[in-house]
Amino acid sequence: MIDHATIERILDAAEISDVVSDFVTLRKRGVNQLGLCPFHNEKTPSFTVSPAKGIFKCFGCGKGGNSVNFIMEHESLTYPEALKWLAKKYNIEVVEKEETEEQKQLKDERESLMIVSSFAQKYFMRYLWEENEGRTIGLGYFRERSFRDDILKKFEVGYSPDGKTTFTDAAQKEGYRIEFLEKTGLTIKREDWIRDRFGGRIMFPIHNLAGRVIAFGGRILKDDPKAAKYINSPESEIYHKSKVLYGIFQAKREISRSDKCYLVEGYTDVLSMFQSGIENVVASSGTALTVDQIRLIKRFTNNITIIYDGDEAGIKASLRGIDLVLEEGMNVKVLLLPTGEDPDSFAKKMGASGYLNYIQENETDFIQFKTRLLLKSTENDPIAKARLISDVIRSVAVIPDSITRSVYIKECSKLLSVNEEVLYTEVRKHKRKQNDDFRKKEIREKSRKIVPQPKLPDEKPIEFILEELEFLRFLLKHCNAPLFEIEIENTNETQILKVGEFMIEELEKDELVSENKLFQKIFYDIKENFENEQFDPWKHFVYHIDGEVSKLATDLLSEKFVQSKRWTKAGAFTEKEEEILDLLIPKIVYEYKLRKIIIMLREIEEEINKASKENNFDKIIEEQSKYMNLKRVEKFLSDKLGNRTIN
Ligand code: CTP
Ligand code: MN
Repeated sequence: MIDHATIERILDAAEISDVVSDFVTLRKRGVNQLGLCPFHNEKTPSFTVSPAKGIFKCFGCGKGGNSVNFIMEHESLTYPEALKWLAKKYNIEVVEKEETEEQKQLKDERESLMIVSSFAQKYFMRYLWEENEGRTIGLGYFRERSFRDDILKKFEVGYSPDGKTTFTDAAQKEGYRIEFLEKTGLTIKREDWIRDRFGGRIMFPIHNLAGRVIAFGGRILKDDPKAAKYINSPESEIYHKSKVLYGIFQAKREISRSDKCYLVEGYTDVLSMFQSGIENVVASSGTALTVDQIRLIKRFTNNITIIYDGDEAGIKASLRGIDLVLEEGMNVKVLLLPTGEDPDSFAKKMGASGYLNYIQENETDFIQFKTRLLLKSTENDPIAKARLISDVIRSVAVIPDSITRSVYIKECSKLLSVNEEVLYTEVRKHKRKQNDDFRKKEIREKSRKIVPQPKLPDEKPIEFILEELEFLRFLLKHCNAPLFEIEIENTNETQILKVGEFMIEELEKDELVSENKLFQKIFYDIKENFENEQFDPWKHFVYHIDGEVSKLATDLLSEKFVQSKRWTKAGAFTEKEEEILDLLIPKIVYEYKLRKIIIMLREIEEEINKASKENNFDKIIEEQSKYMNLKRVEKFLSDKLGNRTIN
């Protein structure tokens, strides 16, 4: 934990163009600076730095943010890690909050486990390249499968000598304690015997994001039907299988540069694809994909293509897991390899360009893929088809973004020949159920009174509706601008009403402030600072201590979420936004309110439905009167907005 004062000092010191110019050559262009974007491939510069605003923005790939975001993105770090990185650059001493004795011990233990793992990796690697047994058996095997030396070295593979305790003995002789050898799983220890876990296997070290070795996978070379082909390190203080992806350390830079990640199953698949020149690839190492693994990928890209070798049963089994990926708001594609090929064999056969061509021509969107796959088995069977529809809908319903959802609904409606409206209704049902489940889970957890776990900052994606983002953007950008001149009652004097005052008042008086926590943070923060003459929303939010707030504010201020259609489509609005605030602001506010009202109406409809099923007439009447009132407000707002048809 870094304390607030230190964070503020770091944010003050980390001037954006100074930070960026460590990595990008910048040229002056007016008040801004321009360079080649480090996050995507480009020949003409579209990467802009605004020293005045303290932000960078690439008009090619859309990435943008403050100096901390830049370091997070460029160095693949978390928010606190990026802060520490900057602190080091500016010689700011990071005061971490006191650790408890227990925390200290745990940290020491983790460090010891990493040190043992690193020793083991170097030992296995040396054995592969320098010892006779390693060279003939281990290296011989890799060569036979035509892996190049540079790839073997890049992934730091090795060979664990055959024999009961060859490795354990060597480690102990070097002073490594049996306690840590056991805890990392390198050595198996029982009452009356000990032995090496990986004897006689080729070794694939598993690295964490920072490149430190935390575990191993070992492949057997002998033909032994009784022994497992691969064995892996057990879970330990430093290795949580479900949170790790094989190859992420080697692949992360290319994943973020190409804005895409390939997901395969095995160690050798990763190595072969790398060898053929495709470097944005990681493996789930034979396990089903977990949410933590998805979030790991999500730190670098939103686009993921899962590569399957074409065995249909296996694919069907994994479909459920992919809903998790959709739920995280990622774009998922699926690639089926020709029968008999796996990513390893196919890469060796095709080479990079052939492979990439094949991918481009054959990867399909996940939901389409799932629909087609399941459709095959339901021909002429209406019941199976109904099941299929609800199955596909379940996948669609978990997608957080409503626009993406509607695109999918349109597609599925065509594929399944089912009316779009029917699909919408089904999706709504599912979403309602998801919400219920979520609430139930919350209640269960609360009543269990478990010790609160520290929450990761990115644990739950926060959902926004477009109108909320638009509202926040105008509030942030123009809150100090004058909006209307109003007369003070019973005097001849007038007073200027500022944009921020108007927007805040409007929502508060109608009790329509969003329930979204991030929205509230920004909303009330502005409200609190309103009297303060020196308040500068740019500086305040772009360099906000709360990483989430600062990221959202920066995205909004750098126009990441602008509904650009509004301006181009209307045509009439050729003026600059700040010149027509008196027209725009009320419109933004009414649109926001209208959207909220529509959502509330829908909720009441559901209540009425429920109540009528239960014959609860008091409730029906109560809800209906609420409904009528809101309908009037809806009518009022839609009139104001120019009589758009409301459905
Ligand atoms: N796996 C495992 N334990 C096994 C078999 C497989 O943990 N007994 C995991 C490994 O991570 C392996 C992946 O599942 O890399 C895929 O398994 P498989 O396709 O059988 O192996 P390949 O990666 O193709 O390995 P190879 O090409 O060396 O046979
Ligand atoms: Mn294989």
